[in-house]
Amino acid sequence: MIMPKHFFLETFGCQMNVVDSEQIVDLLRGMDYAPADRPEDADLILLNTCAIRDKAERKVYGHLGRYKPLKAVRPGLILGVGGCVAQQQGEKLLKDIPYLDLVFGTHNIHRLPDLLRDVEIRHRRGHALEFHDRETRLRLFPQRSGGEAVTRFVTVTQGCDNFCSYCVVPLVRGREISRPSGEILDEIRQLAASGVREVTLIGQNVNSYGVGVPGELSFARLLAEVEGIDDIVRIRFTTSHPKDLSDELIDCFGSLKKLCNHIHLPVQSGSDRILRLMNRGYTREQYLDRVRRLRRVRPEIRLSSDIIVGFPGESEEDFADTLSLTEEVNYVDIYSFIYSPRSGTAAVKLEDSLTAGERQARFDRLLKIQEDISRQWRERDAGAILEVLVEGESRQGQGQLFGRTTWNRIVNFAGPRDLIGSLVPVHITQVYRNSHLGCLVTDQAPSHG
Ligand code: SAH
Ligand code: SF4
Ligand code: F3S
Repeated sequence: MIMPKHFFLETFGCQMNVVDSEQIVDLLRGMDYAPADRPEDADLILLNTCAIRDKAERKVYGHLGRYKPLKAVRPGLILGVGGCVAQQQGEKLLKDIPYLDLVFGTHNIHRLPDLLRDVEIRHRRGHALEFHDRETRLRLFPQRSGGEAVTRFVTVTQGCDNFCSYCVVPLVRGREISRPSGEILDEIRQLAASGVREVTLIGQNVNSYGVGVPGELSFARLLAEVEGIDDIVRIRFTTSHPKDLSDELIDCFGSLKKLCNHIHLPVQSGSDRILRLMNRGYTREQYLDRVRRLRRVRPEIRLSSDIIVGFPGESEEDFADTLSLTEEVNYVDIYSFIYSPRSGTAAVKLEDSLTAGERQARFDRLLKIQEDISRQWRERDAGAILEVLVEGESRQGQGQLFGRTTWNRIVNFAGPRDLIGSLVPVHITQVYRNSHLGCLVTDQAPSHG
């Protein structure tokens, strides 16, 4: 009997990498690899990497270092790196890390089986790093299967053309392409048929979906089509670039009932001067105008955001503008990051006199303000009966389920397994920092959500 081979895959970074990792798993299963629970048990270890900030990139080297000793005790163990760091560092990774076997970039996931065979059979280290044109990329889109999941990501665009001055994504993911709407809708129908109830349409900037493609639907029209797919009960999308958030798209929050009450709308900075240096393409006032319209159309909507602290040349006044915008918008959550210079981006050429200490101090001030705001939002949910889409069994233990509110907060509660995939009313009894605890309501309709 042939012993099955095992793989251990680690995924870093954003939703794009999550979807890419699903494709990697499908390819590996097709090569008779089964998942391993621990790297120690694997014949193949793969890292799907993120290059967005220096810390993310350093993590890759750290993890590889940890796997090095495994190669000594397990001869034949294959080590590979894919994703955005692979794309950016390329062959340098193979040169710097003598015990690394293969490197594949963001346009070359489909090459993984060839690269693996080369290592397995010919003991030849290899890489696949070239970018492909639009037609090739569209042809290479993987066929996806449903599996057990209640909620899934569905790719609508790949790559990014925005070139925000701090950002490495356009360099590591290539130009933006939109997938044909017919294929997206077919995929969602198939996912729905296998039990998926919620889809999150993903791309670096979903708002520019279809732009420049003759005859293609706008993103708003695409959402309306998804609304028409019966078994899908909830729709989300991410990420939305404020400069391309059209009235037509905002108005979807008025007309499409399945669209959740949440939007992630990264602002990055509250200062017009910094927004210009970031090449974001909107002003503070234009951003606030979008927020007001969203709230007019869907009063229950909650917003989250990404903010970069300490962009080169950010003055105390610029930073004060970010703080005041954060308070004015009243975000339910923010993801804040200390600016990290990325090679190949425009911002590395800007004059930068801020010290690490100044950056950290600003970061801490922002976090403190947001913590209070987030806590107030959480407390609003305490005692309410909210509609929860049940996603699975909770890690908390037996008989516990988990799901999410329309605002994307996790709720844990006791209930039978057969509720997985249903929308149920849950009475929120405890609110914690990262999740809510609740009780299933058996005889009452939800009060909101
Ligand atoms: N396409 C999305 C997300 C991009 S990456 C968007 O446009 O919003 C996620 C977040 O990482 C960004 O929103 C930004 O806040 C942060 N980020 C990107 N580059 C960064 C850098 N060089 N330093 C610090 N944070 C960065
Ligand atoms: Fe990066 Fe800007 Fe593109 Fe987002 S929109 S991925 S921040 S370049
Ligand atoms: Fe990171 Fe690449 Fe996503 S750099 S944020 S994994 S596109």
